[in-house]
Amino acid sequence: MNITADIRYIGVNDHQIDLFEGQYAVKNGMSYNSYLISDEKIAVMDTVEAHFGEEWLQNLKAALQDRHPDYLVVQHMEPDHSANIRLFMDTFPEAVIVSSAKAFAMIGQFFGTDYAERRIVIKEGDTLPLGKHTLRFIAAPMVHWPEVMMTYDEADGALFTADGFGKFGALDVEEPWTDEARRYYIGIVGKYGMQVMNVLKKAAALDIQMICPLHGPVLKEDLPYYLNLYQTWASYKAEEEGIVIAYTSVYGHTKTAVLELAEALKKNGCEKVAVYDLARDDMAAAIADAFRYTKLVLATTTYNADIYPFMRDFLSRLTEHNYQGRTVAMIENGSWAPMAVKVMKTMLEKSKNLVYAEPVVSIKSALTEQNRCEIKALADELSKA
Ligand code: FEO
Repeated sequence: MNITADIRYIGVNDHQIDLFEGQYAVKNGMSYNSYLISDEKIAVMDTVEAHFGEEWLQNLKAALQDRHPDYLVVQHMEPDHSANIRLFMDTFPEAVIVSSAKAFAMIGQFFGTDYAERRIVIKEGDTLPLGKHTLRFIAAPMVHWPEVMMTYDEADGALFTADGFGKFGALDVEEPWTDEARRYYIGIVGKYGMQVMNVLKKAAALDIQMICPLHGPVLKEDLPYYLNLYQTWASYKAEEEGIVIAYTSVYGHTKTAVLELAEALKKNGCEKVAVYDLARDDMAAAIADAFRYTKLVLATTTYNADIYPFMRDFLSRLTEHNYQGRTVAMIENGSWAPMAVKVMKTMLEKSKNLVYAEPVVSIKSALTEQNRCEIKALADELSKA
C-alpha cells in the first residue's frame, strides 16, 4: 500500500490476539504498522509483533524490489514493534539501527546485544538524510515508554508518531476511529498527559500532511480533528457533556438503583448516559467514557469492609490515569455497615478538582422510598448543565 510516492505501508494485521498488552479486549484485532521509505537510502520504520515476523519480512521484501534497506529506525522498543529487530538484522547484514540511547539499552536487554558496531544513536533534533527525504527526530519520552522518538519527514510532511494517534483494531476491519482510539489512548498513554502535551507543542511547529502511527490507520484528512482530540485528552478535559454510571451489584438492588437513576436522567433530557456493569462490561471502555464525559456516578456494595473488587479495580485504573476535573456522585449499598462511599472518596483523594454531587444515596439492602427520592434528587442535580 502506497502512503506517498516514496513511503509504503508494510505492517500486518493481528486477528489471533485475545488481549492486547495482556489486558485490552480487541474484538477487531490489532494492526502493527511498519513503513518503508525508499530514497537514495532506504529506511524501515520499526518492525512488528513477534508472531508476524515472516509476514512482515515478505511485505518488506516485496516493497524493496531487490534493493536493500540501509536503516532500521526504531522509534519504540515495546515488543509489539521491536520483536523482529534480530530477524531484520540477520536478514540484512549491511543495515544499521537508528535509535535513541535509551532504546539501545533496551535492545541490549531484549536481544543480548546492543548492536554496538551497527548503529547510529540519535537524539532530539538529529537528522538522517536519505536523499530527497531527511528524517528529523523528535523525542517523545513516555509516549508511551521513555525511549520513544517520533520522526518527521519534511519532504512528504509525514509525522511518524509511534504509539501516538494509534487505535485498537486491525486495518482490514472498517470501524470509526474515535471510540477505539480513545479507549486505546486513555488505557495506554493516558497517564502521561503532560508528556503528550509537550510533544503536541513540538508538532504544532511542523507542517504535517499526514500522521503515520504504529497502530491504526494513517491519518491524512482533517488533521486538526485528531490533533484537537489529543489536546483534549492530554489535558484531561471532558470531550462533551454526559454521564457515566459505573456500578457493581451482587443481588440486583444496587443495579435497580442505577437503572432508576439512568431512567430519571433520560426523563430529564440527558442524552448521553452510559451505564457500565463493571463485572461484565469492558473495563477499558468504562474508563475511556469516564474521561470522555463530564460526570461520573459510582454505585457499589460494601464488601469485606471495603468495596466490591471490580469497583476497586475501576477506581485504581481511573486514578492511575490521572482522573480529574469532573463531577462525581455516589451510591452505596451495605446491609449492616455501608461504607463504600467512605472507601471510594479515600481512593479519589489524589484526584484533582473533583466536585461531589449531592445527595449521596445510601441503601441498606433494598431501595426505600427515601432512597427513591434521593435518586430523583440526584438525577435533577446531575441534569443541570
Ligand atoms: Fe504499541 Fe507501546 O507499543
